[in-house]
Amino acid sequence: MNDSSTAGSLRFGVIGVGIIGRQHVARLLSDASPATLIALADANPEAARTVAEENGVEASASVEELLGRDDIDVVVIAVPSGLHADVTIDALDAGKHVFLEKPIEVTVEASDRIREAEQRSGKILSIASQRRFAAENQFLKTLVSEGKLGRLTSATVEVPLWRSQEYYDSGAWRGTWKLDGGGALMNQGVHLVDLALWLLGDVEELFAFTGLLAHERIEVEDTVTATARLRSGAQLTFQATTAAYGKLPIRVSLMGDAGSIVTESERVIHFHSRDGLELPEFEAVDIMLEQHLDFVDAVQNEHAPLVTSADARAAVAFIEAVYESGRTGKPVRPAELPVRA
Ligand SMILES: NC(=O)c1ccc[n+]([C@@H]2O[C@H](COP(=O)([O-])OP(=O)(O)OC[C@H]3O[C@@H](n4cnc5c(N)ncnc54)[C@H](O)[C@@H]3O)[C@@H](O)[C@H]2O)c1
Repeated sequence: MNDSSTAGSLRFGVIGVGIIGRQHVARLLSDASPATLIALADANPEAARTVAEENGVEASASVEELLGRDDIDVVVIAVPSGLHADVTIDALDAGKHVFLEKPIEVTVEASDRIREAEQRSGKILSIASQRRFAAENQFLKTLVSEGKLGRLTSATVEVPLWRSQEYYDSGAWRGTWKLDGGGALMNQGVHLVDLALWLLGDVEELFAFTGLLAHERIEVEDTVTATARLRSGAQLTFQATTAAYGKLPIRVSLMGDAGSIVTESERVIHFHSRDGLELPEFEAVDIMLEQHLDFVDAVQNEHAPLVTSADARAAVAFIEAVYESGRTGKPVRPAELPVRA
């Protein structure tokens, strides 16, 4: 639905038209989108113009100009991670609802500044974590929250990815502490950190090894192994790397005293239930679009989106704790939410 006369349709702008920004543009222009895309902006105005022309929408000359428009209600922000706070705070202060790319920011401190702007603006903010919207992951959530696996005793998450040296060399911000905020865990693994915390709850304490093993000219890790004890008492092993050549699946295993389930890249490869539960049919969905739908519903009906800024902040706190443990060789407790949250 992209007829700007559509009654009640939310009017979107997109800030940052790089790799993922263009994917948001495609979703917003798809027939299944409940939104209307109005304009794009980028620090590189030429890029904004090109992508706008390709898609038949307007280009604003600057981010400030786009945020000043009163025909835009909502912005998608898809700029390098360490710039999320600057752009998001300006957008919230300009009265826009915000759908922000992951991670919320690259430090807990910057994440909290975003959350303060969210609170003072009264606007809706959600952070990309599209894997939650896969039918299989929704099933995992139902199993856990309804106690169908019994007492959850342990979980393992493996994110064995490959990113070439050319990938890291392709953008000056990639692989830097300031703008990427980390490597295999902060950039790629954060999706699974969010999923793990959503499924398993808060982490009490963790211990981690981090290393840069197979890339050059980057500041951050390409391999992480963490173990954690959750508040529930369950234990988690989390492994993420961008140095695993060979298209391996992302694997999530949940083990309880009444059942266990394993997924590989969102496909259930093992399910065993003491009580004889059977697997449902899983519908294939466009998970980015599903998250857009959740966000639009949250804005239109004034409720919290599925992925809140508190959730996204918890993922960054987990990752900061992993990095601190990797640096110091000591166990770390992820930063608590401040009382004002
Ligand atoms: N959800 C996902 O699966 C997913 C996938 C890839 C990237 N991301 C996230 O999206 C963000 C962007 O990643 P990318 O791979 O698209 O990067 P990219 O480098 O391809 O694109 C970033 C764009 O932002 C623009 N930009 C830089 N600074 C800006 C500013 N201050 N104001 C406006 N525009 C600015 C750049 O010119 C560029 O066009 C990152 O936070 C990344 O973690 C999420």
